[in-house]
Amino acid sequence: MSFNPSSFINEISPQLIEKVGNSKVLIAVSGGVDSTTAAALAYRVLGERVIPVMIDTGFLRENEANSVREMTRKVIPNLVVEDKSEEFLSALEGVEDAEEKRKKFRDIFYNTISSLARKYGTTMMMQGTIAADWVETQGGIKTQHNVLVQLGINTESQWGFTVIEPLADLYKNEVRELARFLGLPPAISERQPFPGPGLLIRTVGKVTREKLLVERQANSIVERRLEGKGFSQYFAVTFDSDCEEDLEKSKEVGSKVKIYKSRATGVKGDVRSYGHIASVESPISVRETVMKLSRYDITHVMSIVSNKDKGKYAVAIRAVLTEDFMTADVPSISAEELKTIANEIMENPLVKEVLFDITSKPPATIELE
Ligand code: XMP
Repeated sequence: MSFNPSSFINEISPQLIEKVGNSKVLIAVSGGVDSTTAAALAYRVLGERVIPVMIDTGFLRENEANSVREMTRKVIPNLVVEDKSEEFLSALEGVEDAEEKRKKFRDIFYNTISSLARKYGTTMMMQGTIAADWVETQGGIKTQHNVLVQLGINTESQWGFTVIEPLADLYKNEVRELARFLGLPPAISERQPFPGPGLLIRTVGKVTREKLLVERQANSIVERRLEGKGFSQYFAVTFDSDCEEDLEKSKEVGSKVKIYKSRATGVKGDVRSYGHIASVESPISVRETVMKLSRYDITHVMSIVSNKDKGKYAVAIRAVLTEDFMTADVPSISAEELKTIANEIMENPLVKEVLFDITSKPPATIELE
């Protein structure tokens, strides 16, 4: 049955009114489609009782806080931005393992929400968790930062607030329909997803402030260059360029294969895997190369776009086509276009090489961590 935003609002509104009563409710807005739509819905139903807060975690994209405030001015006029970047950055600096990062981020995030809830005088928080978030988290693929209740976490005893998730049964395409219906601008309703932990999970491996800066700059370049091409999601990831050539695998795929020390998340046979990143100089057949290498402890296979002798980071361009974000294909982008993007990224002397992630989901996941 097709989704009807008007019926959805009619159904959910009395539930929200009953849950919130005369209290206030804090809503965490990341600027992504889901949380912004949840906030716009909440504002429409509950008005000024809603306190929409955007937490600057230090892992936002360039100028994100200002642009989200601008884009949502009409539908969420009272958005507050709380700068907590130093708290997040100092706690996460040096953390390397993907799941450890995610869980640590989640804990700091909800500690922050807890203190903000006290500051604004409420014991209720609302968030834009959608179906895909908790399905994947429950499936053990990766711990999404915004899945709590579905994992049996008691937010009241742990952080002193209850959680309301009006969009928990919707999928991304339904959220976009609701966003359009609520009058959110296309810049939001059609916006590509951006994960709550933000650039933290795109600064692959050990988190450093330097690597994060490289990532933020590269991500802006990729977003600007690939915008409007019809891809479901497109971004950059940054990791250490330490790697070793693997002669056996090179022979097997017929092109030079390098295995990086960095690890990334994948999903093989519906089960989480956390293997290495591999690059292939010039894959003869993308499908076959990915299939062959993913039989090993490798989750993301990348082709080399550009490299030089100096520098310490590898930056990968990631683009996917997907309906539901549970599976995804890699679109073809011309070698010339990739080269143009790579040239701009390589202007940063810290970048040693630029790669293009050629792995579909499965066996990779969309994000690297
Ligand atoms: P994966 O990497 O699991 O991503 O294939 C599927 C979709 O989910 C987004 N994603 C997240 N969104 N919090 C979020 O709000 C998270 O922790 C998170 N992790 C992944 C990802 O960007 C993609 O759209």
